[in-house]
Amino acid sequence: MPEPSNIKATITIENGPTLELPVYQGTLGPDVVDISNLTANGRFTFDPGFVSTASCESQITFIDGGKGVLLHRGYPIEQLAKHSSHLEACYLLIYGELPTAAEKEEFEATIARHTMVHEQLRTFYSGFRRDAHPMAILCGVVGALSAFYHDSLDVSDEKHREIAAFRLIAKMPTLAAMSYKFSIGQPFMYPRNDLSYAENFLHMMFGNPCEDYKVNPVLASAMDKIFLLHADHEQNASTSAVRLTGSSGANPFACIAAGIAALWGPSHGGANEAVLEMLEEIGDESRIDEFVARAKDKEDPFRLMGFGHRVYKNFDPRAKVMKETADEVLKELGLDDDPLLKIAKRLEKIALEDNYFVEKKLYPNVDFYSGIILKAIGIPTSMFTVIFAVGRTVGWIAHWHEMHSAPFKIGRPRQLYNGHKQRDYVPTDKR
Ligand code: CMC
Repeated sequence: MPEPSNIKATITIENGPTLELPVYQGTLGPDVVDISNLTANGRFTFDPGFVSTASCESQITFIDGGKGVLLHRGYPIEQLAKHSSHLEACYLLIYGELPTAAEKEEFEATIARHTMVHEQLRTFYSGFRRDAHPMAILCGVVGALSAFYHDSLDVSDEKHREIAAFRLIAKMPTLAAMSYKFSIGQPFMYPRNDLSYAENFLHMMFGNPCEDYKVNPVLASAMDKIFLLHADHEQNASTSAVRLTGSSGANPFACIAAGIAALWGPSHGGANEAVLEMLEEIGDESRIDEFVARAKDKEDPFRLMGFGHRVYKNFDPRAKVMKETADEVLKELGLDDDPLLKIAKRLEKIALEDNYFVEKKLYPNVDFYSGIILKAIGIPTSMFTVIFAVGRTVGWIAHWHEMHSAPFKIGRPRQLYNGHKQRDYVPTDKR
């Protein structure tokens, strides 16, 4: 439990008690009022979407949405994107410190040696339809890992948790690439331990057994940045789903499968796929104004995908890095003239200047640019959220591990009940 500060909050309920509530002060961020004692006094708080609720205490990631700050273990995302790599960030998120050179080498070697999946897991894929969405496959096969790795299921054992972490970080790219290969009817590619994390992923996606696949270093670097920029984002919907699932003592693979399911929706990780679908639907620069008008129309549920964020109300620091990477990739591939990318660029300009978007602080988010990069690399849109899941796996694990490293309660929110009062059963002939 955190230490209460000297500040106190008081809550007075008409015809009820006046309660003094402890207030905690984190190293950064707003003060947090502890309302956990309200229940003992017969009251709950009401906070749909948890917009004002800190569900846990954490030391992993800090976000200041107003200032556009994202820190992992204190390090700004811009510095990590410039100087670090996804695997080094994985180490940082899990262990709390940047690795020494020897620790880094050992960690990378460990991950490389866990990339293969149990051979029998391959048969799971043939149970799916060829046109199955790769996120549907990923939810299934990641959950199924718990049936294969019985030696890392004891969540109270720190060593088990560590091995599960290695396995999940290492095997996710393999499982993701297999879901793509299955959809196009090509043989699965075995991972190659001599390649970096991102290179290996591109090799498993685009290589085939008949010829050598040369990984383009610009694309591998962009892929690594996409993984790194998605690595963690504090208590977002999927991470909260992982924590909630883990709070019941569920095994790590089941917890990560829950995270994948939560990530799938278009308001969260599904947005990068939705961005490309939206660009395709717009189809031509001449139709942009029509779609912008629809996004502004209160009667129309349509939203500009890839714009806006629950937490960032100024700019998304990940989007800044992604935009630079997008420019590098487009230049490398000579795709500056791609019609969809042209629509994206115009849309970005309009939204950055239009009053509606400026006033509501709806800036392009990370998914806007990551979608553009992935499309340029040749990755089909249905794989976009899968790639987000590969990057976010370490964040899910770090939070799950942090939760298990200290006492915690099972997650069990309450409700404001607004249904019928108690009533008596009515027999069918009297209804
Ligand atoms: N296009 C048009 N209007 C928008 C958009 C948008 N993309 N996003 C928000 N608004 C409007 C919304 O209609 C509302 O207007 P009003 O106050 O007049 O009712 C206002 O802006 C606030 O929206 P909200 O839904 O209350 O904001 P939120 O913080 O609950 O939602 C969001 C954040 C990301 C779900 C939302 O901005 C959205 O749906 N964006 C499009 C989907 C998207 O790109 N999601 C990826 C998020 S980044 C990846 C991740 O971290 O998971």
